[in-house]
Amino acid sequence: MNLSGRALTAPASPIRRMIPFAEQAMKMGKKIYYLNIGQPDIPTPRVYFEYVERYKPSVVAYTHSAGLLELREAFSRYYEKFSVKVLPDEIIVTNGGSEAVLFAMAVVADPGDEILVLEPFYANYAGFAAQLGIKLVPVRTYPEDGYSVPDKKKFLEKISSKTKAIIFSNPCNPTGAVYNESQLRTIIDVALEKDLFIISDEVYREFTFDGCKAISALSFEPILDRVIMVDSISKRYSACGARIGAFVSKNKSIYSAALKFAQARLCPPMTSQYGAIGLLSLDDEYVESIKNEYQARRDVVYEELKKIDGAVFQKPKGAFYISARLPVDNVEEFVKFMLLEFDVGGKTTMVSPLDGFYATPSAGLDEMRIAYVLNCDDLRDAVRILALGVEEYKRKVR
Ligand SMILES: Cc1ncc(COP(=O)(O)O)c(C=O)c1O
Repeated sequence: MNLSGRALTAPASPIRRMIPFAEQAMKMGKKIYYLNIGQPDIPTPRVYFEYVERYKPSVVAYTHSAGLLELREAFSRYYEKFSVKVLPDEIIVTNGGSEAVLFAMAVVADPGDEILVLEPFYANYAGFAAQLGIKLVPVRTYPEDGYSVPDKKKFLEKISSKTKAIIFSNPCNPTGAVYNESQLRTIIDVALEKDLFIISDEVYREFTFDGCKAISALSFEPILDRVIMVDSISKRYSACGARIGAFVSKNKSIYSAALKFAQARLCPPMTSQYGAIGLLSLDDEYVESIKNEYQARRDVVYEELKKIDGAVFQKPKGAFYISARLPVDNVEEFVKFMLLEFDVGGKTTMVSPLDGFYATPSAGLDEMRIAYVLNCDDLRDAVRILALGVEEYKRKVR
């Protein structure tokens, strides 16, 4: 018996592959600051649980495959705040943003087709593409300019007769970049010129700093029929385990195709959908306070990272990640060193090697991602330890 080619070649999570070393470090009695994973530490607002309790049904039943109408109406009202006009029947509630990405790729591309992706990218895009037999073709961005969208030429070079779409996250995981209007227009120009779909992953929409705003791909009139917007409550409301996201499209053919996929998996979780209605009823003050907290954390990480001689990065404008080139050859080896051979008073820091966020072979080997999901004091200590670790590692490999 043989497994499928897809099963054998699907990439393992780049974040999870380092966990055995963290387990070893824990056995050695070390305290680890985990900056490697995007699980927010912020408590889920109580209103989530209140709504689950309030609507407690006698049977936890299947719901409509597109999700409860009340929830789609709540999403529709929420998008209006960003001047994005989306009707409830242009929304499919999904099992997290993850399923929306899977549906989006499956709707626009066949096995063997290609999707352009701004690189480095949210690593699970590679997993979904592998499940679907789709090839991700990277368009590279660099730490020197804060991982900005490159010139149109760089996209055109990568386009073939099999290219069907461009996918990116904005604000970006893993880089923290927020694409401004002119950068988005580069992507839009390419999509219009080459007749491509745009998959715009906007799950970090509110987390933008220094007065900067994330612009939804659904705010550009000429491309409304070719955009699929991916959304999620996971990060916005620190409700990752609720598994509620959204697939949004104003194109009727795209929508009905995705609905067939949604019907095949029956429905998103019923009780979480009630909780999500509660979360979407929260006022702007809630999200504002969370955003301020992330901005304060971003500032701490940025200031501490600046103390690492030779680190290359710009101050990120959004999400809760910062990626940087470190003055080491191989960040994976460095992470192992931090876990197994280094500590400061019994404490060490774990970051993510960034190579797993690239499709280009050997790219990102000297880059890392930090998720700032700890409070400011812990973050300061964690990045201080990271900086000491870099110095010690450089001495060791010299
Ligand atoms: C850019 C991006 N898109 C989508 C997701 C999927 O999140 P979820 O499935 O929890 O909504 C994540 C999670 O980290 C993400 O960072």
